[in-house]
Amino acid sequence: MADEWWRGAAIYQVYLRSFADGDGDGIGDLAGLRAKLPYLAELGIDAIWLNPWYPSPMADGGYDVADYRAIDPAFGTLAEAEAYIAEAHALNIRTIIDIVPNHGSDQQDWFVQALRAGPGSPERERFVFRPGRGDGPPNDWQSIFNGPAWTQVADGEWYLHLFAPEQPDFNWRNPEVVEEFHDILRFWLDRGVDGIRIDSAAVLFKDLDSQEESYTDHDEVHEVYRGWRRISDTYDDRFFVGEMWMPDQERFALYLRPDELHTAFNFDFLSRPWEAAELRASIDLTLSTHVPIGAPPTWVLSNHDVTRPVTKYGRQDTSFSHQDRKHGMRTDLVLGERRARAAALLAMALPGGLYVYQGEELGLPEVEDLPDELLQDPIFTRSQGTDRGRDGCRVPLPWSGKEPPFGFGDGTPWLPQPADWKNLTVESQYDDQNSMLSLYRSGLKLRRALLGDGSLTWLDAPADVLTFRRETLTCVTNLSADAVSLPSHEEVLITSIPLDEGRLPSDATAWIS
Ligand code: NOJ
Repeated sequence: MADEWWRGAAIYQVYLRSFADGDGDGIGDLAGLRAKLPYLAELGIDAIWLNPWYPSPMADGGYDVADYRAIDPAFGTLAEAEAYIAEAHALNIRTIIDIVPNHGSDQQDWFVQALRAGPGSPERERFVFRPGRGDGPPNDWQSIFNGPAWTQVADGEWYLHLFAPEQPDFNWRNPEVVEEFHDILRFWLDRGVDGIRIDSAAVLFKDLDSQEESYTDHDEVHEVYRGWRRISDTYDDRFFVGEMWMPDQERFALYLRPDELHTAFNFDFLSRPWEAAELRASIDLTLSTHVPIGAPPTWVLSNHDVTRPVTKYGRQDTSFSHQDRKHGMRTDLVLGERRARAAALLAMALPGGLYVYQGEELGLPEVEDLPDELLQDPIFTRSQGTDRGRDGCRVPLPWSGKEPPFGFGDGTPWLPQPADWKNLTVESQYDDQNSMLSLYRSGLKLRRALLGDGSLTWLDAPADVLTFRRETLTCVTNLSADAVSLPSHEEVLITSIPLDEGRLPSDATAWIS
C-alpha cells in the first residue's frame, strides 16, 4: 500500500565494488553484500541504493552500462540479484537501483550497431553523431571529465559524450530511446526494486548549436520524467531520486512537481562550509523549495563522487566543489572526525530522507595517497593528473582484522586499504560506545523511532549555534568556538561527543527532549 515510506527513509549507499567480496577476486559483489545484510539491518537503515550493477567495461566504475537488463559477472547473476532483493525485503530493507539514461557504454550493442551502420542510419540516430567542422569536432564543448566532449569514428563522424569517450550520449529526441528506457524501468520494477536513482538526471537534452556547453536543465527533460512517473505510478509505492547538480533551487524544484520525480539529492547542503550561517541558509533554502510542493527534502553528507566528510571537515576550507577537490591540502583528521560526528547527528535530525554512503558510518577518511598507477577514475587521466579524481572515497571497506584486506574478502582489494584502517574496522568499532559506528547506529535508531519527514521550528540560540525543534526533540549544533549551555530539557537523548559539565562543546551536536 502507498505509505510513501521513502519520505523519511534512511538510505544506505552501497558501492558494490568496494563493499564486501564474496568470491575472493578483490572486487565486491552480491555474495558479499548478501552476507552483510544483517550488519545493515542492525545499523537501522530502511533501504539500500546500489550504484550500477550492470555488465560494464568499467571505464567509469559501471556508469558505462553495456546491458541494462543484466548483472556484471564480477558482481554475480540476475538470479543472485533477485535473491538479494528478496532477502533484503525479508529484513525490511528496500532496494534502490541506479539507472543511467544520459549515456551508455561504447561496448553496448546499440553503439556497436551504430558504428557498423554508418552515417545517416537509424542506428546512429539513437546517439548524437554529427559531421565535424573541417578537421575538428562539431563544436568546442568540453567533457565533464575534462578534454573534448566529441570523439571521431573511422568514417569521419563524431559522437558526443558529456563524460568519457567510452560513454556515448543517447539522443533523447528519438522516441526509440524513450521507449527503451520505459522498458528498462518496467524490467526492474517487475523484479521488485523499490526505487530508482536517476544518474545525471538534468543533462539529457543538448542544444548543439550553442558554442558554450548547453545541456543542463533544458525544459524538454521534464516530459521524460512525466513519462517515467506514469510508469512508476502503476506500481505500489515505488519512487525516484534524481541526481541533479544545479545551483538554481527554483529550477531544481521543478523536477519535484507532483507528476515528476518524488525526490532528488540535495547537494547544496553537502557543498556548504562548516559554518552556522551557511548551514542554516542551506536548510532554509532546501525547506523553502520543497515544502510548498510537498516533496520531502533529502540530506546527503557524502557519496562516491565527493570527498569523505572526515577529510573535508578537517580542512581549513570546509566547502566542497567538483572543480576543486582540495586534494592533499593539510587536514586535521581529529577535528574532521569531530565535525563529521556533529554533522551526522544534524543531518539525521532534519526532516525528510537521509543518505549514508558506505564507510561514512565508520568515519573513513579520503585516501589521498593512492599510487598514480592504481587510480581508475577517468577524471585522473583526462585531467592529465591535475585532478586525482574520486578513487579516494571508493576504497574497499575494512570489516575486521589487523591488516589489509581487513575482512573485505580473500583476494587483494582492487584499491589498497591504508594500514591504519585497523582502527576503523567494523569489528574494532562495534562494541566501542564512542565509535563513529555506535553513533550512527544509535542516531539512526532514535531517528527511526522519533523522526522522519515533517517540519522544523528554529529556536533562539547563541551566535553560531543551530537550534531547532522537531516534534518531541530539539537538536542543537554548536559551531561556535566555545562550549554553550543547552536549552532546558528533560533528557539528553544523544550527543556527538560527551558533554562538558553539562555544556555542549564546540563542533558538537546534542538531541534533547
Ligand atoms: C554521476 C555519478 O554519480 C558519477 O559517478 C558518474 O561518473 C557520472 N554521473 C556519469 O555517469
